[in-house]
Amino acid sequence: MFEVDLDNINTSSVPPLDKNERQYYYMAKVRDIIREKSRERGKPFTFFIQTFGCQMNAHDSEKLRGMLREMDYEEAEEEKNADFVIYNTCCVRENAENKVYGNLGYLKHSKRENPHMKIALCGCMMQQDTVLQTIRQKYKHVDIVFGTFNLYKLAELMYTNFETEAPVFDIWKEHGDIVEDLPTIRHFKYKASVNIMFGCNNFCSYCIVPYVRGRERSRCSADIINEIKALAADGVKEVTLLGQNVNSYGRGLEEEITFAKLLRMVNEVEGIERIRFMTSHPKDLSDELIYAMRDCEKVCKHIHLPVQAGNDEILRVMNRKYTKQHYLGLVEKIRKEIPDIAITTDIMVGFPGETKECVEDTIDVIKKARFNGAFTFIYSKRTGTPAAVMENQIPEDQVKKNFNRVLEALNPIIYELNCKKVGKVYKVMADDVSTSDESYITGRLEDNSLVHFKGDRSMIGDIFDVKITDCKTFYLIGEKV
Ligand code: 5AD
Ligand code: SF4
Repeated sequence: MFEVDLDNINTSSVPPLDKNERQYYYMAKVRDIIREKSRERGKPFTFFIQTFGCQMNAHDSEKLRGMLREMDYEEAEEEKNADFVIYNTCCVRENAENKVYGNLGYLKHSKRENPHMKIALCGCMMQQDTVLQTIRQKYKHVDIVFGTFNLYKLAELMYTNFETEAPVFDIWKEHGDIVEDLPTIRHFKYKASVNIMFGCNNFCSYCIVPYVRGRERSRCSADIINEIKALAADGVKEVTLLGQNVNSYGRGLEEEITFAKLLRMVNEVEGIERIRFMTSHPKDLSDELIYAMRDCEKVCKHIHLPVQAGNDEILRVMNRKYTKQHYLGLVEKIRKEIPDIAITTDIMVGFPGETKECVEDTIDVIKKARFNGAFTFIYSKRTGTPAAVMENQIPEDQVKKNFNRVLEALNPIIYELNCKKVGKVYKVMADDVSTSDESYITGRLEDNSLVHFKGDRSMIGDIFDVKITDCKTFYLIGEKV
């Protein structure tokens, strides 16, 4: 992987034009400023990153963390004591946005107490003009705002802010080139996320993502494989390949490649023991991919395949481009080729026009597909999407009732499938010490189910045989054998 020693950078020269070199140049410049300020103040400068939303954002935050560490910032335990606070925001649903505004209100007080504090906002929410207006008008204590396309410019924006002492807003409407080789600090030592593509072209009618993350573009396979090899050399055993729609990976690249081919290539990387990926769109799920999952021993037997809804008319208006029958056909095909696979999904309740009868179709899919897990969401109106201006929005009380019916159908099935694991032994990657009881470790089975078992910190990152002894709807309990 690309390694740069900031000490070898001549910070009194003009900024380089190469995008990557330029950011290392600015990281060196900000580091000089921070070193000076730390010396004056007699204590190090600290940062705090709060991440909202999906795994893509979580991975972006790992890059932010990597860049801040390069600039000599240390990680703060608490937001209110940090000298640099970043919110990496999400706008998929309204409540994630409201939380950001709420937190920003509190930060006003923290900033009064710590005059060194800088506040930065980035991520999906910032790609919306209405949000930028609100921040400009009501949250004047924010110092730096950037979006989803220019995260790599953090150091340059910080430098500009230090120099001008004025708020810096830098939002791009479109993506530029993919910038490779940013410093990254992984949350887990033994597992890592790897972007394989960015953006989305699907324009599901409820979804804001295509407007804030731009058009689909894939990284070339050589860059991805090199990154994974470097991760493996650094001790990583599990990689998660990330994209909004991994099944269309490779479109638009000069090389002839599909996601299935990429999976087979990743499967060959020595040192990697587990491969996961997120997210698959049912309309693009190919037989070739199912066979690759079946054949590649390192690919976890788990697929996340968002169905959203079960009614054909709702699916059509959502612009999902498949029917209930097609979805159930896929589930059948996947289970036939990979019998012990876990299938998880996303379900949305309350889309415009969704009647009680439509929800019956969703419940029917739940019963037939027998999902091992599901993220369930109440539809949230997103300004700028086609669904936001549909007239037949559903009243809240009706949505709540339908939402509960969906949960009542889902949960017993998930519990029943979990119960079938009791008494069996599975390979489990130990992730962390349990937050509720320090003598327990939490880990994931290959099928992504969560398990708690007795253990200690030294086990984190290794893969163990664990016998399942008990289960609940949302987790398993086991013991190391
Ligand atoms: N309201 C509620 N849920 C949404 N999702 C996407 N957009 C919305 C919205 N407007 C859900 C979908 C998607 C998941 C990542 O978020 O279920 O699969
Ligand atoms: Fe949103 Fe649909 Fe793209 Fe997923 S596939 S990010 S739901 S537009």
